[in-house]
Amino acid sequence: MVLSFALLGCDEGFKAKGSDEASDLSTIDFNSEYLDIPFAELETKASEVLQTRCASCHSAGGTGAAAIPDIMDTNDLLRRGLIVPNHPVNSKLFVDVWDGRMPSNGESLTKDELEIIQIWIYRGVQEVPDPILLSDGVQTVFEANCLSCHSLIGGNAGGVNLESYDEIMKYVSPTASPDESVLFDSVVTGRMPTTPTKLQQRDLAIIYNWLWAGANE
Ligand code: HEC
Ligand code: HEC
Repeated sequence: MVLSFALLGCDEGFKAKGSDEASDLSTIDFNSEYLDIPFAELETKASEVLQTRCASCHSAGGTGAAAIPDIMDTNDLLRRGLIVPNHPVNSKLFVDVWDGRMPSNGESLTKDELEIIQIWIYRGVQEVPDPILLSDGVQTVFEANCLSCHSLIGGNAGGVNLESYDEIMKYVSPTASPDESVLFDSVVTGRMPTTPTKLQQRDLAIIYNWLWAGANE
């Protein structure tokens, strides 16, 4: 119980754009044994679930390999924005099994298996990520959603240019948490883009994880 108390702080931060979306805390069973077992043990259990329930499709040659080529590669899941450390409800990997969309063969996870994945993400997915580079996805998100205004050709709206690493870093504080950067704040609040179509949850996760892993060039 002491542990779960300490974890409460984890729920601050990254939220869905609509404020009425479920928060991580409202979905977590605080009596769960998985909050208290050693993290390494929980990690082994999570690997077992992914291996037995997902890897047949999400590995080389599997029907889901185009979407996720190797579901056992946690760093890759982070880079793709499918897992957001501490935030199960922002993690597509969890949401898709919670919704029952995955596994797509109709063999839904048991409540216990679901809880293992959820609390593994909630407790932080402590694998040290490979550097997540700007080119690992963030740049693509900016190209599609921001550069029409925030580029030389787009007129550098508001004096903001998002074409180079150095310019982007003017809106990032490398030592602060992702939520505290102007860059992430501008998109998670929906302030940016100024156009009606806002970033999707997945794009937010890609930017968040890049910042979380140290905002590497
Ligand atoms: C029977 C095969 C199969 C199994 C088993 C399966 N998946 Fe999938 N999965 C797919 C296919 C095919 C796609 C791509 C089409 C789609 O998104 O529906 C996919 C897509 C996904 C996506 C979306 C990826 C993206 O980039 O948007 C996630 C997340 C996912 N699967 C998670 C899981 C998890 C977690 C499990 C195990 C609990 C699992 N899948 C088990 C076939 C499978
Ligand atoms: C249709 C034009 C347009 C698009 C597209 C757009 N912006 Fe902006 N942005 C502006 C304008 C105009 C300003 C300056 C005025 C303001 O702050 O509202 C600005 C300001 C900013 C600022 C600095 C001020 C603040 O709000 O924090 C940041 C950071 C920013 N934009 C990021 C982004 C990102 C990231 C994207 C893409 C996800 C994006 N913008 C897409 C027009 C745009």
